[in-house]
Amino acid sequence: MRRFSAEYLEHTRRGMWEDDRDALGELNLPSRERVLDVGCGTGELTRVLAAETDATVIGVDADSELLSVARGEERGAGAGPQIGYLAGDATRLPVADGAVDLAVCQALLINLPDPTAAVRELARVSSDLVAAVEPDNADVRVASTVDAEERLEREAREAYVAGVETDVALGDRVRDAFDAAGLVDVRTRRYVHEKRTEPPYAEAALRSAARKASGAGLADHRDELVAATSEDAYDDLRGRWREMGREVVDAIGAGEYERVEYVPFDVTVGRVAGGD
Ligand SMILES: C[S@@+](CC[C@H](N)C(=O)[O-])C[C@H]1O[C@@H](n2cnc3c(N)ncnc32)[C@H](O)[C@@H]1O
Repeated sequence: MRRFSAEYLEHTRRGMWEDDRDALGELNLPSRERVLDVGCGTGELTRVLAAETDATVIGVDADSELLSVARGEERGAGAGPQIGYLAGDATRLPVADGAVDLAVCQALLINLPDPTAAVRELARVSSDLVAAVEPDNADVRVASTVDAEERLEREAREAYVAGVETDVALGDRVRDAFDAAGLVDVRTRRYVHEKRTEPPYAEAALRSAARKASGAGLADHRDELVAATSEDAYDDLRGRWREMGREVVDAIGAGEYERVEYVPFDVTVGRVAGGD
């Protein structure tokens, strides 16, 4: 199973769904009674779902460390019993057939060797809707005032997509998985998560720039990058990456740095045939 740090999830999800929740409209959240968020991690989507419905929302994940962080967020926010968390595997959910009326996941399918098996399991536990919110990593774009950043991020992203074991750029194949799982009325809407860095710089932007200059951000994906290229090519990329990071740090110091990252997420929704 691919593992993620709580810091990585908090960093990549910051601001997500805060600007626009239209693409979640097909989930009919206000009318839901029981919702399952599978592969919930630190509960980034779980909390968004809970804010849009009075339903009970249960997050499930196979990583108990991430679930502890998610539970801590709930305690910190003084949240009531609307949200709960359960340990479990997406392909063998510890939930009865038809126990919820919406089973949803975000950035889970791209990390699984057999996404269709997980969609079948989501369909088993839902009496009505199944939804998947999956990034299209092949279509991510970055615009930056530091020229080298756009080039190097593209180079690293292309190598990562080629080197990672699962299909992290599923795109339309999410719909194929829904069809294979027997879901009907399948429809897709796109949400683009825009991550902006501009003056005045938030603490997170300063941390992110420091991670670029040290190469730490790239090192998180070392195995995938080496798998797609070679140790030497990775070391070469890392050297150029750190140089670019130092440029970013200098530009921040001068108050001249701006960056926007556009991460497209496709929200695919289907109905269980013969369901509610
Ligand atoms: C990229 S993270 C997404 C987390 C969260 N949904 C979000 O959008 O912030 C993928 C999550 O899927 C979980 N995961 C991976 N394989 C799993 C499996 N077989 N069963 C349950 N969870 C799994 C990971 O532990 C991780 O929390």
